[in-house]
Amino acid sequence: ARQIIIDTDPGQDDAVAILMALACPDMFEVLGITCVAGNVPLDLTTRNARVICELAGRDDMPVFAGCDRPMGRDLVTAEHVHGRSGLDGPHLPEPTMPLQSTHAVDFIVDTLRARAPGTVTLVPIGPLTNIATAFRKAPDIIARPREIVLMGGAHFAHGNVTPTAEFNIHVDPRAAQEVFRSGARIVMLPLDVTHKALVTHARNAAFRAIGTPVGRAVADLTGFFERYNPARHGGDGAPLHDPCTIGWLLRPDLFTAREVNVEIEVQSELTMGMTVVDWWGVTGRAANATFVHDIDATGFFDLLTDRLARL
Ligand code: BDR
Ligand code: CA
Repeated sequence: ARQIIIDTDPGQDDAVAILMALACPDMFEVLGITCVAGNVPLDLTTRNARVICELAGRDDMPVFAGCDRPMGRDLVTAEHVHGRSGLDGPHLPEPTMPLQSTHAVDFIVDTLRARAPGTVTLVPIGPLTNIATAFRKAPDIIARPREIVLMGGAHFAHGNVTPTAEFNIHVDPRAAQEVFRSGARIVMLPLDVTHKALVTHARNAAFRAIGTPVGRAVADLTGFFERYNPARHGGDGAPLHDPCTIGWLLRPDLFTAREVNVEIEVQSELTMGMTVVDWWGVTGRAANATFVHDIDATGFFDLLTDRLARL
């Protein structure tokens, strides 16, 4: 099984990504879940991650609190998308499992140092603050991840928080810039692909039809998420962003990607957090990311539903 650390700001779609990973013990060994401020403040993302672990019957999962604000910028949250709790939709009990006392950044550093180089995959599905902070604190770990498979950015797709920026990158552009310039191997799942992974009514009904607490919760989570999005996506359902990372790790054959250079805008207030993707290689800068831009959505949702049914 592939060793992964999920770095997250749950978030309904983060929650589904976590459930999808925990539903695949044959494929993933989830070493820990590290939380960051993003969709909602850190106290809620750490709560929500534990709510989801308990829903999955995994109260043994180590969950860590990380950075509570971006590098040198005020936190921008997204309650208008995710609700006040960040996890509005289902009625799930308050968690009783503990939060680890170690800081998420230290867990990331210690784990990458302790495990063999090229074995641990980082899966950031929120702002990149924890990852960049770990790289700043311990530059020796930058060469150690197998790869970083992240949700973030947009190129042909438009921004979702400003006209040009995607939320995760926009919240902490400096962190994103440091990660993209780090030399670590990066796979990015931007809005270009996640806006093709839409939870239609039929797909939502398929989650509910699983007939388990997890299936019902995922139907309620994705149902809530849709309230914000349908008008923007032609009534076809809301994009299920973060689970695309887990989908890519499970079945890269369901996706289409291109090697590109990506730089992050960190200065202009107008385009702050824009991912500047050199699609045609006009800059001569070396590729630093695998940019995933297309998906077999039917195959992906079949896979997700099949896996969730195992929890
Ligand atoms: C990203 O922002 C958050 O709202 C979602 O959880 C996802 O990670 C999409 O832009
Ligand atoms: Ca997220």
